[in-house]
Amino acid sequence: MAAGKGTRMKSALPKVLHRLAGHPLLLHVLDTCATLQADRTVVVTGYAADAVERLLAGRATAGGAGAHLRCVRQEPQLGTGHAVQQAVPWLDDDGTTLILNGDVPLVAADTARALVQACAGRQLALLTLMLDAPEGYGRIVREGGSVRGIVEHKDASDAQRRIREVYTGIMAAPTAALKRWLARLTNHNAQREYYLTDVVALAVADGVAVVTTAAHDETEVLGVNSAAQLADLERRLQRRRANALMDAGVRLADPARFDVRGVLECGQDVEIDIDCIFEGRVVLGDGVRVGSHCVIRDTTIGAGTEVLPHCDFTRATIGERVQIGPFARLRPGADLGPEVHIGNFVEVKNSRLERGAKANHLAYLGDTSVGERVNYGAGSITANYDGANKHRTVIGNDVHVGSNCVLVAPVVIGDGATIGAGSVINKDAPAGQLTVARARQASLEGWQRPVKQKKKD
Ligand code: UD1
Ligand code: CA
Repeated sequence: MAAGKGTRMKSALPKVLHRLAGHPLLLHVLDTCATLQADRTVVVTGYAADAVERLLAGRATAGGAGAHLRCVRQEPQLGTGHAVQQAVPWLDDDGTTLILNGDVPLVAADTARALVQACAGRQLALLTLMLDAPEGYGRIVREGGSVRGIVEHKDASDAQRRIREVYTGIMAAPTAALKRWLARLTNHNAQREYYLTDVVALAVADGVAVVTTAAHDETEVLGVNSAAQLADLERRLQRRRANALMDAGVRLADPARFDVRGVLECGQDVEIDIDCIFEGRVVLGDGVRVGSHCVIRDTTIGAGTEVLPHCDFTRATIGERVQIGPFARLRPGADLGPEVHIGNFVEVKNSRLERGAKANHLAYLGDTSVGERVNYGAGSITANYDGANKHRTVIGNDVHVGSNCVLVAPVVIGDGATIGAGSVINKDAPAGQLTVARARQASLEGWQRPVKQKKKD
């Protein structure tokens, strides 16, 4: 169910597109579905349906679970029961239907599987949880131990509001019976909605057994209804990820100030200082140290490399024993060989630096091949863009580029060449020679500074 607006989020973005660990809520749920190997997955869209369906379009064509994915629209949105009614034409009578809430993102596949097993094709199985603060949730009403129904918080009496056992929004039902119950829902309640949760009382009336399965932990089934709940769930999820990494020996300076918005793979003896963000797929080799306040996306870092604070990397490849930062920026295609040094305020894009090359201060390297042991001076840049096209710069082995040079691409600097400081190089520079391209220094003997003229009265 992904049709609701999420009024309590107070956002123009539909709730199920808000991000948890960098990933829309709905995709967390669909990732879980994908591992369940259902015959088909039906997503009920409604509020901002175009935006939600656009997110799913990529998956539907990607094959796998997406091949069995379809969207149905619920317009207008008259409640969770009404939402599931829209999916009815796509559900086979002889199957089991597992209903998941688009705003309950972290339910584990094992839990969902256990629920389908508890349903056993003939019972109504509800995933429940004991909560100390059950406000807002539907409460499980029991008589003599057996479930009689679910009462929504807004419809509950004071006594019912004291019930701590809540419905998590996840159930499994025999499809034929579910269809019968859905057809009998009414909206006679506080919110004038067709509640899915009313099927429980209808099952009881039909003499169908209602069974409950308890969720593993609270984080798994917490719903996101407000910005505060989203932030709370984010911290819980990050803490879980931090714990898993620490269990594997990764040393986090502070697990509460650490964010993985994708997948982080770490070798042995990795150390990560506070406030780092990892996005996409990041691989850190053995002994890598990451300083504070780094943002690293889709990047691989070789063993023994040290990243100093405040670096920003996107789609870069970094070799072994590299020294980088503070304040370094690696853009897509930056490829650093072993023992390279990249210092403060250096930007590298689509460039390969061979072993031991250094760019230690205030520099730009774009579309460049840099040979071994090159020393690239402070303030030097490659002018790789002529306003229409990008061109390559090739710097040979053992080249020394002085400070404040502009290498106007396309240009080749031969092995062992030295480029004098302040040069603008727009022709190839031969190997082994000093090339200087700037005005010659001159000193004028007898030259005097102008003096201020006295005003005449
Ligand atoms: C729902 C349950 C409540 C349970 C809680 C668990 C009902 C009536 N109540 O309450 O018992 O404790 O989840 O998190 O089911 N949606 C639609 N169409 C609609 C309305 C909602 O698709 O017309 C979708 C929403 O996008 C959302 C999900 O259904 O993904 C749940 O809706 P929400 O309004 O958040 O229900 P809760 O009040 O949290
Ligand atoms: Ca909810």
